[in-house]
Amino acid sequence: MFPLQRGRRLRVNESIRSLVRETTLSPQDFMFPMFIAEGENYKVEIPSMPGIFRRSIDLTVEEVKEIFSLGIRAVNIYVKVDESLKDNAGTEAWNPNGLMQQAIRAIKTACPEMIVMPDVALDPYSIYGHDGIITNGDVENDATNDALVKMAVSHAQAGADFVAPSDMMDGRVLRLRQGLDAAGFHNVGIMSYSAKYASAFYGPFRDALGSAPKDDDVAVPKDKKTYQMDYANRIEAIKEALMDVEEGADMVMVKPGIAYLDIVREVKNAVNVPVTVFHVSGEYTMIKAAAQRGWLDNDAIMMEQLMCIKRAGASLISTYFAKEAAILLNK
Ligand code: PBG
Repeated sequence: MFPLQRGRRLRVNESIRSLVRETTLSPQDFMFPMFIAEGENYKVEIPSMPGIFRRSIDLTVEEVKEIFSLGIRAVNIYVKVDESLKDNAGTEAWNPNGLMQQAIRAIKTACPEMIVMPDVALDPYSIYGHDGIITNGDVENDATNDALVKMAVSHAQAGADFVAPSDMMDGRVLRLRQGLDAAGFHNVGIMSYSAKYASAFYGPFRDALGSAPKDDDVAVPKDKKTYQMDYANRIEAIKEALMDVEEGADMVMVKPGIAYLDIVREVKNAVNVPVTVFHVSGEYTMIKAAAQRGWLDNDAIMMEQLMCIKRAGASLISTYFAKEAAILLNK
């Protein structure tokens, strides 16, 4: 009711704005996704993700120590597996001495307080680039779950704090919970990619791991639409998140981020566990590409997007900007 209410009084200067600010960001809000490769002293930038690297385990460990000192307390880890180790069943995924298992052990030894969340899905290990086992032209749900349980238990044995199933098979959270408990890992948590949409924003990630679905084999789906969600859907996201909580998920995730903030808010209102959001590779790349051309301000856009994801209801944000944003927040 003008002139009694003047909204601008609360915006007069930065001090008053800071007093009434409803949302804040800190480095503990971020999880840093990291790509791991074979070898030693190896570090190669991903062409479609400027500033993001695939690193061998030794250099990954150095980076983990550095981001821990910046206040980051969680990493999501993904591996680039040699083509010769791939098959349809994803057998390499539960090799106790596989790249992922070695990486988990190395990180937990060097930086025990860092929360390590390995990705659970078969795509980096699949000759077809799919998140599960292909039978009769599609990903076979229940057989894939058997494989995921073996994979998750091997991650727990290597020292993972959480496992992060990103595969979107039905019933996998329950199967993982039972499998982890049966192996004695009651305190290994599950962060479930509950509402993971079939999104073109994952393109640069698939470049990073060489894990894009193969489109040369007629018998294999060319996309992930039979398991990842249709981005036209909203109610389905709530259903998936509620089911995962019932099945034992400690945290649920919505993915991607910025184009899905309506879903983040609805899931946040529907569940009683922390909601994480994946600000995915394509979202990172768009900002970097525009900033390189001088068309957008990298730091300003980065902070705006991260703050808006938090405002929408995220407890944790998995973002390739984690390190950059932490450095800025620590200034
Ligand atoms: C694999 C997986 C993907 C991402 C995380 N885990 C890709 C996919 O489903 O094809 C995407 C992350 C990103 O784009 O940053 N299951």
